[in-house]
Amino acid sequence: MKSRAKRSGYSLRMPAFGLALLTLLAACGEDHLKTYPQTTFAPVTEFARQSDWLFKYTLVLGVLVGLFVFGLLGYIVWRFRYQPGHPEPEQVHGNARLELLWTFIPALILAAIAVPTVRTIFATQREAPANALTIEVHGWQWWWEYRYAVNGGRDTVVTANEIHVPVGTPVQLRMTSGDVLHSFWIPQMGGKRDVIPNKVNTLNFTPEEPGVYLGQCAEFCGDSHALMKMRMIAHTPEGFQEWLRNEAGPAPTPRDSAVALGKQLVTKGACAGCHVIQYGASRDSATVGRTGPNLTHFGSRRTLAAGILENNAENLAKWLKNPPEVKPGSKMPNLNLKDEEIRFIVAYLQTLQ
Ligand code: CUA
Repeated sequence: MKSRAKRSGYSLRMPAFGLALLTLLAACGEDHLKTYPQTTFAPVTEFARQSDWLFKYTLVLGVLVGLFVFGLLGYIVWRFRYQPGHPEPEQVHGNARLELLWTFIPALILAAIAVPTVRTIFATQREAPANALTIEVHGWQWWWEYRYAVNGGRDTVVTANEIHVPVGTPVQLRMTSGDVLHSFWIPQMGGKRDVIPNKVNTLNFTPEEPGVYLGQCAEFCGDSHALMKMRMIAHTPEGFQEWLRNEAGPAPTPRDSAVALGKQLVTKGACAGCHVIQYGASRDSATVGRTGPNLTHFGSRRTLAAGILENNAENLAKWLKNPPEVKPGSKMPNLNLKDEEIRFIVAYLQTLQ
């Protein structure tokens, strides 16, 4: 009984290997993207395409070498197995020709890997071209801040968690951290960069396909590290300009009393200690804080609380009721807001398109 179970264990190994290989191949399919939105196997920038190609190329080389080596080994073990009465096979120890051959072949294989690897490193670490769009990225516990220079550098658009980029334009991210180590990682964008206090790291890429791409912090940074998500939204060039123009504008003025009440609660209350909402043509701040995300156009964001909740009235109310419950360790404390106050604040924040 025991030996049979053991045998079936062995016979299961090959199908399991096949299944793993199939899973890997399925990685290229569209369905895979739905199940695993943070896949690295569906590149959408030239940076990601190059590293994806390099990965697959070395994988194929590795598989070929593995098949050759284990095939040869299997053959030799079988061919020269011990058989009673057979003479000892010829001993090849110290055979100069063989020694040269199995030094030369691995050297060739290493060269075949090294040349494209070094070329890809240089290609992906290039300086950004002069026409690149520069976006400043700040990591905070536990959200992302993005800054875009507008109006010839006289003004700055500040937004959070959702990074907007145009397709076809080189983008340069200049990244740093306001507190601890974080790591910026949107797999389909390619690359991954540590975000370090008092140091600026860069990441250059050119988005190629419009879409929404999910990412998350990839360096343990405290309680809510796993909830520190981000999205890259790649627009057509026109769509991007439209987005930027809207972001550069002031927050809309309240049109009804509930919204006006909400505005008063936010801009005159505790929220103002941490959040900025910009009003007026000169975008002068209605509030002063900047510990938390800039909320000027909060209503136009798809998600809230660093991408963990869809941005709708219900989720917003849940968040305002008790932030640390949604995001453990959240720097936004429970302000013990009354349900009525929450209702007004939600109404107001939703108008900030
Ligand atoms: Cu930020 Cu992990």
